[in-house]
Amino acid sequence: MSMTKLFSPGPVMVKENVRRSLLHYDICHRSHEFEEMFQDTQAKIVKLFNADHSYYSVIVSGSGTSANETVLSSAFKPGEEVLLIRNGVFGERLLEIIHKYNVPLVDLPFPWATYPDLAVIERAMAEHPKVKVVAMVFHETSTGMINPVGEVGSLCRKYGKALFVDCVSAAGGQDIDVVKNNISVCTSVGGKCVGAFPGSAYVCARQSVLESLTADQCKNVYLSLYKHYQSAVTTHQTPNTPNVNLFWPLNVALTNILEDETLAGRISRYQKCAVIIRRGVCSMGCRFLLEDHMANTVTSVFLPKGVDAPAFLGEMEKRGYTFYIGKGEYGKQGMIQIANMGEIYEQDCYNMLEVFQVVLNKIQAK
Ligand SMILES: Cc1ncc(COP(=O)(O)O)c(C=O)c1O
Repeated sequence: MSMTKLFSPGPVMVKENVRRSLLHYDICHRSHEFEEMFQDTQAKIVKLFNADHSYYSVIVSGSGTSANETVLSSAFKPGEEVLLIRNGVFGERLLEIIHKYNVPLVDLPFPWATYPDLAVIERAMAEHPKVKVVAMVFHETSTGMINPVGEVGSLCRKYGKALFVDCVSAAGGQDIDVVKNNISVCTSVGGKCVGAFPGSAYVCARQSVLESLTADQCKNVYLSLYKHYQSAVTTHQTPNTPNVNLFWPLNVALTNILEDETLAGRISRYQKCAVIIRRGVCSMGCRFLLEDHMANTVTSVFLPKGVDAPAFLGEMEKRGYTFYIGKGEYGKQGMIQIANMGEIYEQDCYNMLEVFQVVLNKIQAK
C-alpha cells in the first residue's frame, strides 16, 4: 500500500486491480494473445471519446508528448498550415513540436489563464484558407482551464478545417464527445484521469484522416502515425516493440471506467472531489487562479500571502501528500496545483484538507 497520496496531475493513484495487472505473465507483442488485447484496448479508447465507428485508435508507447508529436509530425502534406490556439504551457509544448517539424503556422497566443476569444479565432480561420488543421488543448493543465473545444469544433465545421485536440489531461475527466465536437484527431494517456500508469499514450482519429496519410508525409521514424495505423489495421500490432506490460494496466483502467464506474460516474466523482477541495482551500484563505472554466480535476490556487509555496509543498510531502508547484511565474507567486485524478475519493479530499490546514497553521505561526 502506498504511503503517498498523489494529488498531482500525473502520475496518479491507481486502483489495486490496475497495479496487479502489471504482474501479468509475459507475452510477445507478435502473439495472438497480444493482438486480442490490443484490439480490445483500441475499442475502449474509442468509447472513452464517445466516438462512433468512423473513428479508430492507435496506441503509442510513450508519454503524452509522444502522442502529440505522432500527430503533429504526421498530419501535414507540404504547404498545409496549422492554426494553433494556445493559452498555457501545454499549448506552448504543441508550438515547440510544430516548430521542430517546420509546419507552417498561424499562431494565436492568448495570455495564460485567458479564455480564448472565439471572434479572434473565427477571423483567423476566415483569413487563412491554407490552414488545414486547427490545434488546441482541451484541458490546459498548467492553469486548469477547459478551453472552448465545442465552439471551435463548430467553427471548424463552418470553415472546413480539421480539429486536433490534445486531450492528455481531459480524457476520462471531462465530457468529450468527438462526434458532437467535430474533433478529427485527439490524443491522451493512461496515466492521468484514466487511472493507469504513465507511458501509455494513444491517438483517436477519424479513420478517413488515418486512411489519407502517406508514409512520406510522416517526419518521425518512431512516431509515425502512418506506421502505427498500418500496423494496427493489417496486423493488430504496433510497428515497434511496445511497452507490452503497460498495455494490461491501460486495458484494466479503461474497463474500470467504462464497465464499472461508468464514464459519467467517474466524471461525477471528480466533480464532487473538486468541489470539496475548492471549498476547503477557499475557507483557508487561498485564492483561485481561475474564476471560470475550471477543470474537474485540477485546482490552481495561490496560497495565503506570506506562505512560501516550496516550503509548504515540502511539509505536505513529508506528510505523504504530493501537489505541483505552479508553472512559470505562477510558482514564484505562490501558486500550487492540486489535482484529483485517479483513485482519489471524497474522504481522501477531506483527509488531505485536514493536513493542509495543519501545515498552513504551522507555516503561518513562524
Ligand atoms: C494537456 C497536456 N498535454 C501534454 C502533456 C505532456 O504529457 P507528458 O508529460 O506525459 O509527455 C501534459 C502533461 O501533463 C498535459 O497536461
